[in-house]
Amino acid sequence: MKALVFGSLNIDYVYSVDHIVMQGETLDSNHLIALPGGKGLNQAVALSKAGMNTFMAGLIGKDGMFLKDILEENQVDTSYVKRLQETSGHAIIQVDSQGKNSIVLYGGTNRMVTEPLIDEVLSQFDRGDLLLLQNEINMLDSIILKAKAKGMVVALNPSPMNGTVEQLDLNDIDILIMNEVEGAQISGVSSDEPEQILEEIYGRYNSVDLMLTLGKAGSVFMDHETKQIFRQEAIDVLPIIDTTGAGDTFTGFFLAGWIKREETQQIMRRASIASGIAVGRKGAAISIPTLDEVNQI
Ligand code: RIB
Repeated sequence: MKALVFGSLNIDYVYSVDHIVMQGETLDSNHLIALPGGKGLNQAVALSKAGMNTFMAGLIGKDGMFLKDILEENQVDTSYVKRLQETSGHAIIQVDSQGKNSIVLYGGTNRMVTEPLIDEVLSQFDRGDLLLLQNEINMLDSIILKAKAKGMVVALNPSPMNGTVEQLDLNDIDILIMNEVEGAQISGVSSDEPEQILEEIYGRYNSVDLMLTLGKAGSVFMDHETKQIFRQEAIDVLPIIDTTGAGDTFTGFFLAGWIKREETQQIMRRASIASGIAVGRKGAAISIPTLDEVNQI
């Protein structure tokens, strides 16, 4: 079984700041570093580190070769990462002294996906292969329709949440992996009521497995077949340095077990440990632990 991440590759410009800049404020940063990121790239690295045979499809610009390199260093197949004569996507990330972040995105080449590229990529995948999508590229609706028609298993992380996600028919998705803010927006239920969020979304899309991550409060999962709800506390492994990419780490590790139908509670615990390690390290993709590191906890 293969896993395909059709998604974003970003250059993350990470600024260390004492606090997140306020409206109207000009703030000096303490440090700047350019790191590999993008929800697509991060989740591809996490899936691969969690043991999946992982392929990445996406678009980089003239400045993005190091994004392809980091994927290859992490055993992700980059045959479908194409290079354009444009500017790669990037993210301006402020990380404060508590490790919290705020992110501004520039889509760049991530938003230049075309129908021929979709057809070329999907022609290499079969029924039962996993497709993982986020909301940082264009043409999501077409990718989902074509992948479903082939019988691929479609996972969506609807992040960042915006009108594009609202327009999608989520009945075409097999598993939705969202945080509490995205869950609240999709369901219209307060983010303080996670199980109510799951009930509401299940009421509309009852063939979709639902994973809701809750930051420090852990995660909750609803299996659509049994309607059983599973809960997992967050697992503190390292002191928090940088939370960027923690959700991507959780997503990759959880899906690697979910697609193989491993026991739910066990894979939720494994994903929580993986993200608990990631928050203790700087950066997004470079903070993702190996399966061995996770299994040692
Ligand atoms: O989820 C973290 C990622 O969000 C960062 O790597 C950044 O590129 C943005 O896409």
